[in-house]
Amino acid sequence: MEYKHQAVLLKEAIDYLEIKKDGIYLDGTLGRAGHSSEILHNLSEIGKLIALDRDTAAIKAVESKFSKSKSLILKHSNFQDLDQVLDQLKIKAVDGMLFDLGVSSPQLDNPERGFSYQKNGPLDMRMNSSQSLTAKTIVNNYSAAELEKIITEYGEENWSARIAEFIVKMRKEKVIETTDDLVEVIKAAIPKAVRRSGGHPARRTFQALRIETNNELEQLKNLIDKAVSYLKPGGRLVIITFHSLEDRIVKHKFRDLAKDCTCPPDFPICVCDKKSEVKVITKSPIQASEIEKEGNPRSRSAKMRVAEKI
Ligand SMILES: C[S@@+](CC[C@H](N)C(=O)[O-])C[C@H]1O[C@@H](n2cnc3c(N)ncnc32)[C@H](O)[C@@H]1O
Repeated sequence: MEYKHQAVLLKEAIDYLEIKKDGIYLDGTLGRAGHSSEILHNLSEIGKLIALDRDTAAIKAVESKFSKSKSLILKHSNFQDLDQVLDQLKIKAVDGMLFDLGVSSPQLDNPERGFSYQKNGPLDMRMNSSQSLTAKTIVNNYSAAELEKIITEYGEENWSARIAEFIVKMRKEKVIETTDDLVEVIKAAIPKAVRRSGGHPARRTFQALRIETNNELEQLKNLIDKAVSYLKPGGRLVIITFHSLEDRIVKHKFRDLAKDCTCPPDFPICVCDKKSEVKVITKSPIQASEIEKEGNPRSRSAKMRVAEKI
């Protein structure tokens, strides 16, 4: 079955990249190549696009469609290893980079991947199917305290303690194997009266488990410094996030990179020697238009921030 993905903030991302026809660009989150296709349209034959995805399904789905393109280089890689990919290609710096974070619709829609609380499937949630850690391992092995911590921090879930307690109780009787098994445990843990508001009761816990399984926030933190160090002066870094935890990391990291000297104000001279590395282009994040939000519900939570290397 072919699963589709509708690119979010497509025009805005392409406009902010200010693509040069013969430039070199990196799309760190290929997905189904919505953004990559548009970048390619804006490049001449000598321009280059290096597109990465940690999910082999994304690479396979896109490979044949672009087999004739001389500009596209596809790599199965985590974006936090972009330095290794660029070094192997002997590319010292690029003209722009895009990261459209999170999961793609094909990952969510395929029940076998175990990302969705709305479709029954194995409790998997790995973006890279060759890694060993799955959501099932986490749910069945982490202590109640560890589960509560990740559900609180990554899911911002008020009922995390009860959910963790119910998971531990349930798994003593039988292994929690499927997304439906987990949804049932979460529903039992959250009182009915509370469940009537605030969307699907499993949404926050599933988000937390997905973030933990894929180490998403750590990888985002590692990414930004690396990405900036491989940008040419004037090159733009465009990042689209889908929840406040990610957006906060991008906002703070951009602000830190844009800062000059960070010595305390009472120091007579600068001893830190810090120079600003980027200029923040988007003072507040770009969000989808009402029309886009209506046509693509995934875009409702999207926030795009852009920084330019100095
Ligand atoms: C929201 S989708 C991107 C959609 C794409 N922009 C499009 O228009 O089709 C996110 C993609 O990034 C990939 N991804 C997420 N984290 C990644 C990482 N750390 N390294 C490489 N790829 C990653 C996911 O596997 C998924 O395919």
